[in-house]
Amino acid sequence: MTQTQPTDHIDNMLHETRVIEPPADFVARARVSREEYDRRYRQSLDDPDAFWTGVASELTWTQPWSQVLDWQEPHARWFVGGQTNLAYNALDRNVERGLGNKRAFIWEGEDGEVRTYTYAELLGEVKRAANALLDLGVTVGDRVTLYLPLVPEAAIAMLACARIGAVHSVVFGGFSVSALSDRINDASSKLLITADAGQRRGGLVNLKANADEAAKSTPTLEHILVVCRAGCDVEMQPDRDVWWHEALAGAGEEHEAAALDSEHPLFVLYTSGSTGKPKGVLHTTGGYMVGTYLTTGTVFDLREDDIFWCTADVGWITGHSYSVYGPLLNGATTVLYEGAPNHPDWGRFWEVVQKHRVTILYTAPTAIRSFMRQGDAIPAQYDLSSLRLLGSVGEPINPEAWMWYARVIGGGRCPVVDTWWQTETGSIMLTTLPGAHASKPGSAGLPMFGIELAIMTHDGQELGPDDGGLLVIKRPWPSMLRTVYGDDERYRKTYWGEIPHVYFAGDGARRDADGYVTVVGRVDDVLNVSGHRLGTMEIESALVAHPSVAEAAVVGRPDEVKGECVVAFVLPQGGQTVEPHELRAYVTREIGALARPDAIIIADALPKTRSGKIMRRFLRQIAAGQPIQGDTSTLEDPSVLERLAETPAV
Ligand code: PRX
Repeated sequence: MTQTQPTDHIDNMLHETRVIEPPADFVARARVSREEYDRRYRQSLDDPDAFWTGVASELTWTQPWSQVLDWQEPHARWFVGGQTNLAYNALDRNVERGLGNKRAFIWEGEDGEVRTYTYAELLGEVKRAANALLDLGVTVGDRVTLYLPLVPEAAIAMLACARIGAVHSVVFGGFSVSALSDRINDASSKLLITADAGQRRGGLVNLKANADEAAKSTPTLEHILVVCRAGCDVEMQPDRDVWWHEALAGAGEEHEAAALDSEHPLFVLYTSGSTGKPKGVLHTTGGYMVGTYLTTGTVFDLREDDIFWCTADVGWITGHSYSVYGPLLNGATTVLYEGAPNHPDWGRFWEVVQKHRVTILYTAPTAIRSFMRQGDAIPAQYDLSSLRLLGSVGEPINPEAWMWYARVIGGGRCPVVDTWWQTETGSIMLTTLPGAHASKPGSAGLPMFGIELAIMTHDGQELGPDDGGLLVIKRPWPSMLRTVYGDDERYRKTYWGEIPHVYFAGDGARRDADGYVTVVGRVDDVLNVSGHRLGTMEIESALVAHPSVAEAAVVGRPDEVKGECVVAFVLPQGGQTVEPHELRAYVTREIGALARPDAIIIADALPKTRSGKIMRRFLRQIAAGQPIQGDTSTLEDPSVLERLAETPAV
């Protein structure tokens, strides 16, 4: 079993020199060769209109666009004047081209139940769901919040919204009542779709009870549509609550997909930023469709008989783009698995791969590191020979985990693609193409078609090979976010205001002489815990809302499995005692279990400058158990650092 030291991750990535060529037989059959990548990448930058016209024309539009891009910095409109429907392209189009009997989804519940949907069946369900939404008064442009476990109904509901032009906002089922109500209110949603309960590690997550609680403070909600997942006896409020199965049974079978403007809003997805409350990232129809269609097909070298499994929950962007929209647009067969990777044991993922003959697996480094810790013997008990390609996403992958994934899961025959992108980018931005490029473990690789990036200093100077700086994107791309829902000023400031005329990703990176980009992590106050984005300010606000806390500062600490974990420095309210378990429970209640601090340090003061600014740099060093480095003379009281370093975490 290989193990990494926690603080070695980034250091290892910067000193990694291994180059791994893709297997010859993979190269021989690849959809995109090296020459093809070079040619198409060049065309995508030199003649973007021709390039994007070519890709978008592979899909169906009810009205052609008159202009490929209208760029009024920082606002882009793609395929201007065009009309289309994403659900039509994901379903009807595939049925029309003869894929009606092909499996679209293979769903497996945590309890082992399996359900499959052919393209024709899925289309039938989505049409009924679309009619059910219309029956409940949802119309084009209305917002619908989804708070569901990973059941087929989650994807069906997303597609039904896309079909009628309602804007979905999926809230991960692990989020708390207040996180849910904040998101419903921010989007002014009319409808909430939830389930009686979700299954997680053998237990139940009472989603309907949370939804009821949230609905007490969400005045715009008119109805709650409830999927019966666990057969629980839940309270249904007459006039407001409707069972999903009853609504669909009563809904018409026929539905024609709405012709929507290319820039019609498709979904809002909330993600954490460095300041304030989570941002509602807004994606629109045409560009997002083209971006996810193109990247799923090329990055995953998709072919007719593939069984594609992206392990992300639909509550995250990866689930949106690569569990639902991208694979369906390509007519692929996708696996959806509801549960945890370690239920009933650490062999569960491999059992799913074996049972459904998964050919392409796309998962997160944190999961890979957890499996690695369990040793090689567990995956060795399963037949993983169906796999031909592996993908990684969500956070930097350390070379040891990359090598383990390739060797133990990929059996040495599967290329590994490390894909860098964000909720905001909508689709994959940086990767190697599996049959075109060699991999450098730890380095995501090269830009996708149409993506022009640079590494810059804060003042906009472009840096050369091997210099570390900020990752920026120099021109708009189709699947980019269009704004922050309801807060365009925040959109301008966060993404286009840091460095003039470029998109600021919030990540630090460097590029080597071959053009491979290594993304090392966030440069802002955003943590990446097990591939999930969390704002330090969000957690701090939750902590200071507790009556016994006067002040709090949250930083990340490198973690062997999670990538980063949450460390909270907490200053108690005069004379009060702070109970760590109570604070953890409080953060779980305010945000969700994913934000629960791993370590709490009860402090008598925080390191502040004379003007009152908390110096997080020092807190990060203390949290990681490192010696204090840097100029401490600006601190009002430098002795605070020593005291904090000596205080044990609880
Ligand atoms: O810091 C980068 C990291 O995850 C952030 C985006 O998080 P989110 O919007 O939740 O989307 C995650 C899934 C697309 C990025 O700013 N990140 C994502 N993928 C990688 C990565 N860091 C390094 N390498 C990656 N492959």
